[in-house]
Amino acid sequence: MKFQGPRGTQDILPEAAAGWQALEDRARQVSARHGYREIRTPIFEATELFLRGVGETTDIVTKEMYTFADKKGRSLTLRPEGTAGVMRSLVEHGLAQAGRIHRLWYLGPMFRYDRPQAGRYRQFHQWGAECVGTENPNADVEIILLLVDYLASFGLEKTKVLLNSVGHPGCRPAYAEKLRAYLAPHKESLCGDCQMRFEKNPLRVLDCKVPHDKEVAQGIPSILDSLCDDCRTHFDAVQKGLDALGVVYELDPRLVRGLDYYTRTAFEVHDLARGAQSALGGGGRYDGLVEAIGGPAVPGVGFSAGLERILNALEEQGRRPVFQADGVFVARMGGEAIEKAALALVRSLRQSLPVTFDFESTKSLGAQLKQADKLGARWAVILGEDELSASEATVKDLKAGAQERVALAGLADHLMKNRENAR
Ligand code: HAM
Repeated sequence: MKFQGPRGTQDILPEAAAGWQALEDRARQVSARHGYREIRTPIFEATELFLRGVGETTDIVTKEMYTFADKKGRSLTLRPEGTAGVMRSLVEHGLAQAGRIHRLWYLGPMFRYDRPQAGRYRQFHQWGAECVGTENPNADVEIILLLVDYLASFGLEKTKVLLNSVGHPGCRPAYAEKLRAYLAPHKESLCGDCQMRFEKNPLRVLDCKVPHDKEVAQGIPSILDSLCDDCRTHFDAVQKGLDALGVVYELDPRLVRGLDYYTRTAFEVHDLARGAQSALGGGGRYDGLVEAIGGPAVPGVGFSAGLERILNALEEQGRRPVFQADGVFVARMGGEAIEKAALALVRSLRQSLPVTFDFESTKSLGAQLKQADKLGARWAVILGEDELSASEATVKDLKAGAQERVALAGLADHLMKNRENAR
């Protein structure tokens, strides 16, 4: 019997892992530099959390959740996104308090049962950040910048920032009415889902992927004309903040995002080289979310970025983020004494350096060095009778070809210096 990974999932093989590590390390670095601290929450949560948090009329909740009953019959769901779980955790631990600001980030797998295609998977990975506890538009600017600067740090420049305001529960009903009035004459021609959305949540029609419905949505009135004074002031301040920092963005009044918790700011960053599945990341403000899941009135703003999509974009632009292969390979030639000394040397060098060796002790030096090359090692440390009797080793730079004798006592320091210089 032959097994395959479940549809829509991917194995990250060792050759690809270095790219992933580079993306993840950079996410940690950039988060820390912005004062964000890591939070880790479970991969599954009570289903009800997503119904209340993400919204019952969203595609995510109606079609895409991996929901199951555990052995006690509790309904659980593999997290389709990270924000609801992070807010649940803050509330549960008494950390969600008005006026207390949390800058948080997370990284990990998310699950959505969607039709798999390039850039869309059933298990995918997000790096996300949430700034919780303030309504200040500067927080929106900080969050947008965090994502933009992260992408720019890889040299990903062919991107576009789309920005919108989706208003708040005070001014949105008036817009929903305007939308209904516009959609009413088309109602019968809309897909079944959109006829239901028309009644329950007409903004979701803007999210529909059916070509005819998309066409109808082209002519909808702009939500920006329906914002109340407070939402307008907030939106102006966000734009001013971005302008002041030279962030280029485009207003997109049709950007509503696929989750219901958004209030005011909504944004996405797109890869211009792609048509479909081009959103590298997106987010916005969610001032009512914490209350909706049973917590106090605490506002927040955040985003998450799809790591698979960023990797794809980098690869297409020929900028694969790989770590330089700069490991050490220990080769040995001789009898039992050399073998013993070589294995001890491997162990001690591994305290400070990435080190490998060939398990087979009888191979020729040439064969061992071939192996070193295959593994992508940069330096070979060669130990033979001659070297051992002088308490030295031969260090060969496998790229430059040069070699030298180095005292065993200072070998680790010497190799570390070499690595530093090669970076
Ligand atoms: P989202 O727009 O649903 O937002 O997802 C964010 C990003 O995750 C997308 O822009 C995309 O790059 C990636 N993504 C989503 N679905 C898939 C998929 N099936 N396959 C591959 N990548 C995917 C959220 O999840 C919100 N929690 C963002 C947020 C945080 N808003 C406020 N705070």
